[in-house]
Amino acid sequence: MIKENVLLLLNDQIELEAFSSFQYLSMCAWLDNQGFPGAAQFMARQANEEMTHMKKVFDYVMEAGGRAIVPAIPKPQEEFDGFRDVFETALAHERKVTEAIHHIVFESQANKDFTTFNFMQWYVAEQLEEESLFGTILDKIKLLDRDNSTFYHLDRELATMTGKEPSNPA
Ligand SMILES: [Fe+2]
Ligand SMILES: [Fe+2]
Repeated sequence: MIKENVLLLLNDQIELEAFSSFQYLSMCAWLDNQGFPGAAQFMARQANEEMTHMKKVFDYVMEAGGRAIVPAIPKPQEEFDGFRDVFETALAHERKVTEAIHHIVFESQANKDFTTFNFMQWYVAEQLEEESLFGTILDKIKLLDRDNSTFYHLDRELATMTGKEPSNPA
């Protein structure tokens, strides 16, 4: 059985994961509107992933005999200063999520709730992946800002570029 204060934190996490999904969906809409369909698709995938994170905690709470609460989701940020700002906001958000997850791990251990402690290990590993992913994208954006986009796009193009064979040899 989950301890009461750990249960409260798990329900907070359900809200935070659902909010993350809405935040990324909002970024998806902004990016699409600004003419970045590729990045919009990326954010749509992130939004879907966050919903599965939410559901995973939700299911765990029920399985562990607690009461899962469906949250009211706060309105996510709607406007951004640019492409780079979107990804900086996303990374800052993931860092906040990591802190929340570490707090649950800490509290579950302090309360000798080792079932929740064990359950949360997946989230600890997942946050490392997410921070690393957004960090990598930001590194690429910084490169773009520094050297201008031509180089970056050329580099991507070169990865798959090959000479064409003559279509109709004489
Ligand atoms: Fe998440
Ligand atoms: Fe995330």
